[in-house]
Amino acid sequence: MEALNSTRLFVPALPTLWPGMLLGRGEPSGFMPFSAPNVRWFYFARNAVWLTVKMLGLDKGEVLMPAYHHGVEVEAVADAGATPRFYRVGSRWDVDVEDVERRIGPNTKALYLTHYAGFPGPAEEMRRIADKHGLPLIEDCALSLLSADGSVPLGTTGDIGIFCLYKTLPLPHGGALVVNGPRQYSLPEPPTPPITSTLSHTLSALLQNLELRGGRFGRGVRSFIRSLGKGAVKAADIQRVATGTQHFDRRHVDLGMSPFARRIAQAQDLEAIVERRRRNYFFLLGRLRDVSPPLFNQLPAGVSPLFYPLVVEDKAEVLARLHARGIEAIDFWRHMHPACDASAFPEVMQLRRSIVEIPCHQDLSPEVMAEVALVVRGALTQDRRTRKHAG
Ligand SMILES: Cc1ncc(COP(=O)(O)O)c(C=O)c1O
Repeated sequence: MEALNSTRLFVPALPTLWPGMLLGRGEPSGFMPFSAPNVRWFYFARNAVWLTVKMLGLDKGEVLMPAYHHGVEVEAVADAGATPRFYRVGSRWDVDVEDVERRIGPNTKALYLTHYAGFPGPAEEMRRIADKHGLPLIEDCALSLLSADGSVPLGTTGDIGIFCLYKTLPLPHGGALVVNGPRQYSLPEPPTPPITSTLSHTLSALLQNLELRGGRFGRGVRSFIRSLGKGAVKAADIQRVATGTQHFDRRHVDLGMSPFARRIAQAQDLEAIVERRRRNYFFLLGRLRDVSPPLFNQLPAGVSPLFYPLVVEDKAEVLARLHARGIEAIDFWRHMHPACDASAFPEVMQLRRSIVEIPCHQDLSPEVMAEVALVVRGALTQDRRTRKHAG
């Protein structure tokens, strides 16, 4: 354990950009949303959520959304003029479809289903309820790119499928709005984002790759370039539209996706990405199930996990331990949107207190995953010991 304590890992939360990916291969892909006939590309998924409300004429009506949500998608719905209402999600990320149906009222204008971290929600059942009540179904796949429910790709059952690309692929930005079925909407082509912003995000992802491959040397080069970069960004007053932020910002609602980011997307081997994510997830499941009860005991066919949802007792403590050891674990969805009454959804609040994202993406080799598992086990058992002593 001592030797391990002295090594600092570098386990980034998101996949990094390999230089070869800048030369896109341009092969057609069978995965959504790349294969969809009717798709619009955006800077982020939140823009697609906002536009969906406008496009379907949901403003002034109510959209029935899950009580377990990020918050930014709720902000986008509200900003576009609709009122979000919430339905119950259970302690295993299970949507309570009976509760969904119970809550449909005269002002309900759409149902909103979110697929959590690649794990499919009940799209078929939601489709049935939506059809029964004559409502459109919005499928939010922002955390579920490349994932399928068996052989049914996520984002193909709803009237609308919404995707975020940059959480799964090493792109500077990217989101998509897919319209399924025969309906046609004339949507303006969103303008391309500022090139400086695209280049600045691309450089960050390349530097992360350097650190991933280059160990101590790579880390040194990255921190040197970052320090120069920060000064340059400030001095040149470069407009950098941050991705992955917590809040919706109307100023960026029209931003589209750059052709450069599309090219990087085309350079990805999507089958291999799914396979690696599944391999890494299985590995963590096997190594961690005895120290933390898994949220899912298996990985159903078709699932491409975004991360491993680790159940912990003290998030802050475990996160601090993992960060200290170089694992970019993330506090998953701590906060409820203020429009949602926390006291009405106790299981969701418990989830918000207990889930930590452990990276399992395509850039992490089996050797790195073995170290990640060891560090996570250490962090969990140490956490328990501390609590026992404190108690
Ligand atoms: C469920 C869900 N929908 C939508 C979004 C918005 O994604 P983006 O950051 O691409 O706007 C997020 C962001 O995390 C999300 O978790």
